[in-house]
Amino acid sequence: MHFTCTSCRADHDATAPRTVCTRCGMPLEVDYGFAPGQIAKNDLEETGTLWRYAPFLPTVPAAERITLGEGGTPLVKLTHHHRTLYLKDETGNPTGSFKDRGLALAITLARLRGIERLALPSAGNAGVSAAAYAQAGELACRVFMPSTIPQPFVDAVAGYGAEVVLAGKTIAEAGAAMIESIDGSWFNLSTLKEPYRVEGKKTLGLEIAEQLDWTAPDVVVYPAGGGTGLVGIWKALKELQQVGWLSGPLPRMVVVQTAGCAPVVRAFEAGHTITAPWAEPVTAALGLNVPAPLGGAWMLKVLRDSGGKALAVPEDDLEPAMTRLQDVSGIPAGPEAAAAWWATEQLMEDGWIAPGERVVIVVTGDDRRYV
Ligand SMILES: Cc1ncc(COP(=O)(O)O)c(C=O)c1O
Ligand SMILES: [Zn+2]
Repeated sequence: MHFTCTSCRADHDATAPRTVCTRCGMPLEVDYGFAPGQIAKNDLEETGTLWRYAPFLPTVPAAERITLGEGGTPLVKLTHHHRTLYLKDETGNPTGSFKDRGLALAITLARLRGIERLALPSAGNAGVSAAAYAQAGELACRVFMPSTIPQPFVDAVAGYGAEVVLAGKTIAEAGAAMIESIDGSWFNLSTLKEPYRVEGKKTLGLEIAEQLDWTAPDVVVYPAGGGTGLVGIWKALKELQQVGWLSGPLPRMVVVQTAGCAPVVRAFEAGHTITAPWAEPVTAALGLNVPAPLGGAWMLKVLRDSGGKALAVPEDDLEPAMTRLQDVSGIPAGPEAAAAWWATEQLMEDGWIAPGERVVIVVTGDDRRYV
């Protein structure tokens, strides 16, 4: 196993703690060099958590895994307007969102590499999740959140014993404040500034494929902020092809953002390969308020490679879409998932999603901390 830069393709040793590419500053991805037949289905573990997929993850002795029961979530099947829709219901994760997958892996690997102090900026859910896993792993954690964050997020982070710093109006400004205030004793767990949050999110894709009897859906609809889930799901499906468990076409990947902060949608529509920072971002879907994602180029590549699409929900349509999604599914889905639901409705209506296609909508988190 080694790290490869997602931009300049430079190789990096994976035994030391690493953040981004030392040559170009872009995200690193874990490269396992999987070959056909290298992993057998009965190598999967009977854990009920994401560690079921340990053969696809960095090697971690069972006793060293920091786990709170993340992953192993339901894929709920719905028939809607003659399409088969599958809701990947991430609301039952330990802290209520899919962030637990990424942070379980990242914090486990950080501790394994001897790190004792963690810092990250967060739009809300990642901070809560990081605080929970840092507490479980007995590591110090400092979470930087925008000062506009609803109080329940602050209370949840503090409740898990992490330090809260409120700074700026967006995650980008909170991140800038973090860089100014921390010294080298703090490990930067920011989205895509270390390679293991993607590995944890990758288990979403592995789980979806297994729940579809080791087939890929036709379309995956994903509400994107930093983009770890999107690139993670795509990486999972590619690795399943490498080991020979998946054949046939991979899904068209869809990025959904909101009209108040849509850097990926704007770049995709313009045919650009990188995103430009979004000025004055405002959206009620807090997890999607990421004006300058470091993984912008990576997301755009996944969209192009998969024949996918990017679309933005008008801000006023978010809340009604959340009500419709909750009504049809009974899942306490949050506004980010509602954005994905709205996009699916649109794509069915305009025929981009055809009758008979199988669509997975990632219901990334719940609505409990929105006030
Ligand atoms: C509920 C929810 N959905 C989606 C996202 C976007 O996730 P990512 O930044 O991995 O694209 C977030 C991020 O905060 C979130 O909390
Ligand atoms: Zn590089």
